[in-house]
Amino acid sequence: MTSRTIQYAPKGNFLTGNVGEYRKDTLGYEKHLAQKYGDVVGLSFAGRKALLLNHPDDIHQVLVTQASKFNKSPVYQLILSRFLGNGLVTSDGDFWKRQRKMTQPAFHTKRIGAYGEIMVDFSKRMMDEWKTSSVRDINRDMMRLTLNVVSKTLFNAEMDKNAAQVNEALTMVLHAIDDTIKSPLFLPQWLPLPHNLRMKKATRTLDAIINHMIEERRKTNEDNGDLLSMLLLSEDENGERMTDTQVRDEAVTLFSAGHETTANALTWTWYLLSEHPKAEAKLHEELDRVLGGRMPTLEDLRRLPYTEMVIKESMRIYSPVPSIGRQAIEDVQLNDLTIPKDTIILIAPHIVHNDARWWDEPEAFRPERFENEKDINKYAYFPFGGGPRICIGNSFAMMEGVLVLAAMAQHYQLRHIPDAPVIPEPTLTLRPKHVMKMRVEARTPKVPVQADEHEMVEA
Ligand code: HEM
Repeated sequence: MTSRTIQYAPKGNFLTGNVGEYRKDTLGYEKHLAQKYGDVVGLSFAGRKALLLNHPDDIHQVLVTQASKFNKSPVYQLILSRFLGNGLVTSDGDFWKRQRKMTQPAFHTKRIGAYGEIMVDFSKRMMDEWKTSSVRDINRDMMRLTLNVVSKTLFNAEMDKNAAQVNEALTMVLHAIDDTIKSPLFLPQWLPLPHNLRMKKATRTLDAIINHMIEERRKTNEDNGDLLSMLLLSEDENGERMTDTQVRDEAVTLFSAGHETTANALTWTWYLLSEHPKAEAKLHEELDRVLGGRMPTLEDLRRLPYTEMVIKESMRIYSPVPSIGRQAIEDVQLNDLTIPKDTIILIAPHIVHNDARWWDEPEAFRPERFENEKDINKYAYFPFGGGPRICIGNSFAMMEGVLVLAAMAQHYQLRHIPDAPVIPEPTLTLRPKHVMKMRVEARTPKVPVQADEHEMVEA
């Protein structure tokens, strides 16, 4: 630990403290704070004390070893619970614990294994569209793809007329949440501001659809193999099931948390590959050798280590969740540092993911650095968070990232069209600020010559 004392940032505005600087350029401000003030930076948010923690040991303690002494940050609660209700992302304490226990089986490896085919199928459909148009808004495409995957796996909704409505309402809600985050003050939700009205309308639409689905499923009590069935059938240790409201909140939570993050991870991956032809060539070599032009299956995952490393390296550079927030529910001792009760804790993965103390040439895109992952300081890399609140969908997301990239990259090479600056914008997730235009160029996988074919030719 280089510094165990709190270095305070200048006080900022007399009313709002450092809120203004923080919102204006969150990533730049956090980077500046870490460089100038070190591992423990004190801030003030409208009278509330906050600490930005930049050392893996402290982060490990907050997320893992002393996790029970922290709740989720009240800021995100305030914004998100309006829409997500009391689902896994927004709840705390015993209620969260019970919900997590009941939802966890839905993410069991065996269960999510069945979703691989769906992920590949939607990748194929997107490639069909790419055939007819060569310039794409890649973030929009990836959002649509992952939204389709989550609709199908969560609600088994595809041909269903509801899917389009759900997608539309959800997109509206996510935009409204972004508007709320960006607005200079958290104004009350009853004010008839455009984003509040949009949020209300979209929430009503989604609720009506989801409640109807829950009602229908309850009638048959059947396991359809999707996540919704799992939520409905799951029982706690007393044999009790979730109420309809709880199922609704978890369904909407998974729906929202489960697509934008993965879509952004894929978007940044396409961009980085287009900027780093050597890594791209290595990826193509692996895909051609292992798949030889066919679509990937679940069994291929373990045979595609480089593809997985590409996704991991992409999430190191552009962490899809730009910020993890907590609040101390009691005084907490982090080694010799006392954190008073109610202090807000900010953890910015991009700071630690790019810290030269833990990463050799952090600015370089080098998937190979994950070859010896066990040598990486565990909490110098945490795109999925950690401890009891680690992303419940991390295996789902990794599987989706690798399968989609493997399916598409062997048939298409994407080239970034630099007509707008590439600026990462942190909202709930880290997305490109401007439209990310990419030219899609078809490529023919080089099918490796099989040993027996070789022998036949020689004979
Ligand atoms: C690349 C993709 C993804 C990334 C980078 C990501 C990242 C994260 C992170 C960092 C957290 C922890 C937040 C915290 O500790 O405050 C989290 C939580 C969560 N994620 Fe993900 N996520 C991804 C995909 C998914 C998917 C596919 C799903 C579901 C289908 C999902 C569902 C959730 C849920 C429900 C939580 C809350 C868990 C809890 O508190 O118990 N995520 N995610």
